[in-house]
Amino acid sequence: MKHLMTLLSLCLLFAVISCQKDSFQTKITYPVLPENSYDYSPKWGGMHSHMEGQEIGITDAGATLGRVLFYDRILSIDNTVSCGSCHSQSVGFSDKTKLSDGINHQKTDRNAPPISNLYDDNLLFWDGRSTSIDDLVLEPVRNHKEMGMENMDFLVTKIKAAPYYEDLFVKAYGSPEVTADKIAHAMTQFVKSMIGCDSEMDRHQAVGQPLSTLAQQGMDLFFGKGTCYNCHSGPDFNDRGGFFTDPFFPPNGGGFGWAQDIADIGLDETYTDVGMGVFDDALIGVFKIPSLRNVAMTAPYMHDGRFATLEEVVEHYNTGIQKSPNLDNLFKSWDTGEAITLGLNDSEKSAIVAFLHTLTDENYMHDERFSDPFNR
Ligand code: HEC
Ligand code: HEC
Repeated sequence: MKHLMTLLSLCLLFAVISCQKDSFQTKITYPVLPENSYDYSPKWGGMHSHMEGQEIGITDAGATLGRVLFYDRILSIDNTVSCGSCHSQSVGFSDKTKLSDGINHQKTDRNAPPISNLYDDNLLFWDGRSTSIDDLVLEPVRNHKEMGMENMDFLVTKIKAAPYYEDLFVKAYGSPEVTADKIAHAMTQFVKSMIGCDSEMDRHQAVGQPLSTLAQQGMDLFFGKGTCYNCHSGPDFNDRGGFFTDPFFPPNGGGFGWAQDIADIGLDETYTDVGMGVFDDALIGVFKIPSLRNVAMTAPYMHDGRFATLEEVVEHYNTGIQKSPNLDNLFKSWDTGEAITLGLNDSEKSAIVAFLHTLTDENYMHDERFSDPFNR
């Protein structure tokens, strides 16, 4: 029986490959790459990353190969979806829908998060279930809703059959041999190279470039009355910065509400998507604290994309917090335990939104090194 299955799947594989080859001959799209490879060494700008000056394991040829793979639709089972389909550069490598379209128009379970500055993040996906980019990159390829390529041998076969890869593998790894590990390694290099740190706020912090009066007022609220900075802290406004990075450290850490990476912000009294609750009941409704870099570009918001605008997000924190079972201590009244309201007036709310706009790095959204080489 097992032999029969293997035989059958082999036949199917060859049928698909030969059909693949035909379609390559008619509608093959080659990636357009620069004659001399781009420089993918990290540019830290004013970010003061603790990784500055350290090796993060990227070669120019490796990231170039990773870039092509990231945008290549042949990584999906039916050649319709690439990583770039859901992580689009023009919107900070997120996408504009609540839930994204995978293969066969299937919807993803959650909102596609933006990608930036993940080079040493060890809390990935909304529920933190992946702890390194290296482990993560093949997940979307295998995911039955996203790209549906469960068979890694088939993935390797398809990559080998595409004529433009041989040269890219030789340059990156000194040999044309294609393996799933190399595919993952190259994509990891590309994703790690995606660093953007030239927002107004970065320039404000690095060289004291002044913010507008409104944004400055918003910044004061962000760090003060709004309580935002208790969670959205560090260079990427996600409470991670290399200081404290244990993804399974419980929320409400030590009762201080800081350095915790994850939180339940009272979106619902009862959660349908329990987030980290799949690991432990004490984590129901707990999600990772996302980075706020480029957040003005990455609507809709939250793990399920429920908020269409930043105004709606701020209103949630202001008046919408629900008393969920694991609601963060920061959002509970210290005496009654009830959910608090922040008491922000209209001009304070607009000020916070204006501040969030200073986190946009326009250059990141137009950086050719991260752009789609297939130019469709
Ligand atoms: C069909 C849409 C879709 C495709 C295609 C897709 N992703 Fe995603 N991506 C998502 C969604 C949705 C999530 C969040 C999933 C979750 O948290 O459960 C995500 C999460 C991620 C994250 C985690 C980001 C973070 O801050 O936690 C990374 C990194 C990522 N994807 C990279 C990739 C790469 C690399 C590829 C291609 C191999 C890819 N994605 C393909 C939709 C997609
Ligand atoms: C107790 C920690 C905590 C505090 C305080 C906090 N946040 Fe958040 N924030 C989170 C978590 C966790 C999420 C993701 C929740 C989810 O999707 O379920 C989030 C999501 C967001 C998002 C959506 C990001 C995206 O990519 O979808 C924005 C914007 C945001 N917060 C802004 C703010 C602002 C502004 C404040 C202050 C008024 C604030 N946050 C205070 C923890 C916090």
